[in-house]
Amino acid sequence: MAKKKNRSTAAIIKYDYTNMTDSAIGARHGITEKQIEKTMPHAQEVHRRRVAERKAGKLPFMDLPYKINEASDIAGFAKSTAEKFDNVVVLGIGGSALGTICLQSALNPAFHNLKDNRKRKAPRLFVEDNIDPERLADMLDVLDPKKTLFNVISKSGSTAETMSAFLVARNFIKRTLGPAAVKDHIVATTDVSKGVLRDIADSEGLRSFIVPDGVGGRFSVLTPVGLLPAALVGIDILKLLEGAAIMDKRCRSASPAKNPALMAALLQYIALTRKGKSIQVMMPYANALRDVADWFRQLWAESLGKKYSLDGKVVNSGQTPVKALGATDQHSQAQLYMEGPNDKTITFLRVENFRKDVKIPGGYSKTEGLSYLAGHTFGELIRAEQAATQIAITDNNRPNSTIILPEISPATIGQLLYMLEIETSYMGLLLNIDAFDQPGVEAGKVAAYALMGRAGFEKRAAEINKEAAKVKRKII
Ligand code: PA5
Repeated sequence: MAKKKNRSTAAIIKYDYTNMTDSAIGARHGITEKQIEKTMPHAQEVHRRRVAERKAGKLPFMDLPYKINEASDIAGFAKSTAEKFDNVVVLGIGGSALGTICLQSALNPAFHNLKDNRKRKAPRLFVEDNIDPERLADMLDVLDPKKTLFNVISKSGSTAETMSAFLVARNFIKRTLGPAAVKDHIVATTDVSKGVLRDIADSEGLRSFIVPDGVGGRFSVLTPVGLLPAALVGIDILKLLEGAAIMDKRCRSASPAKNPALMAALLQYIALTRKGKSIQVMMPYANALRDVADWFRQLWAESLGKKYSLDGKVVNSGQTPVKALGATDQHSQAQLYMEGPNDKTITFLRVENFRKDVKIPGGYSKTEGLSYLAGHTFGELIRAEQAATQIAITDNNRPNSTIILPEISPATIGQLLYMLEIETSYMGLLLNIDAFDQPGVEAGKVAAYALMGRAGFEKRAAEINKEAAKVKRKII
């Protein structure tokens, strides 16, 4: 008997780039066929290089959609653990937090944390990705230690912000439940062998998960960094990987016409280098996708903002990512996007079918300014507002594109995040920079260690003090 092909039934996301082109917004700001043709060999070469690097094992983030066994283990652990807790608190920053925030707001109900324990099928989630003392103190005030699991996440295992929050959490558990409780209430996610957090996890017997080698923080949402908290709060992480795998297959073509990530990178590259679009606004029209824009902001900024090219020249590359939210920011930012400097591309995220919809009731049938709304739904209204903003932006010759999600689900979010990661990796090579390092972030970490008196960083502390002494302060 012929084997049945295991075809996924997941809804597929689409990329509409009509309004990036000259046919929609004119040749001054729009990209012409000729420009696409001219850049095509470069884009195809970039694709081939990424394929070769992947084959050579240099891009492990690209293989994450297929780590099904690891994800099943995480899901198993999460299922048995989640039932013991009401609260999961993630301690992490940057790439160790933003993916989790994005998955939670996309895939759990908006007010998940406010539901009472009987109605909520999974623990609440708090992501502490800052070191604001008031917020931290306020959080400890509301947490019942007996019902709280902390997941401390740091690839390097030494980031000052995360490790200080870890010390607070450990102290909180020790003080309230006793030292023996620490290993039941703290789970670590970190490197397999390096870093202080790894040493602590091993020596104190903390349950730990591994950030795979070679996967940088901002590309780690599909590792235990993002998957464990997601699974703990009830998100179907296997479907998320299934979605990413669907996008991976679409991104195997060297033809931008078939590969949405390559087309998107090619267009942003031309917009940046030939049309002076030094800013990219991502504007989701769905609250659930607001934090996708936040996650993308780090991905695009940290990956592409680089001083040096791959051949060592000073290039100061990058395109500034900005997050906006439709329809809210129509009443805050859209005026600038339409009539201010034409230095941006806008990437809309549009949802065709919301998981829930709300009908607009009637009531003022004789009031012309209100009666037209009755009978429509909020889903219709927000889609109309997105279309209206897009029309106005296009009329003003502003390059814009739309990623269309037929629905918001683990599978479509998996596709979307993976597409944006691949687009970023292509864009890095198009710009001839290393998209996977972050020397600027590391320099900031070193300066923080020096200022906080960490042993081994005395020289840097002396340099900072010397530099500071040279500068004439101007404070009024
Ligand atoms: O993307 C990155 O590499 C950074 O944003 C890191 O995720 C961030 O600095 C936190 O680092 P770590 O996970 O080592 O604590």
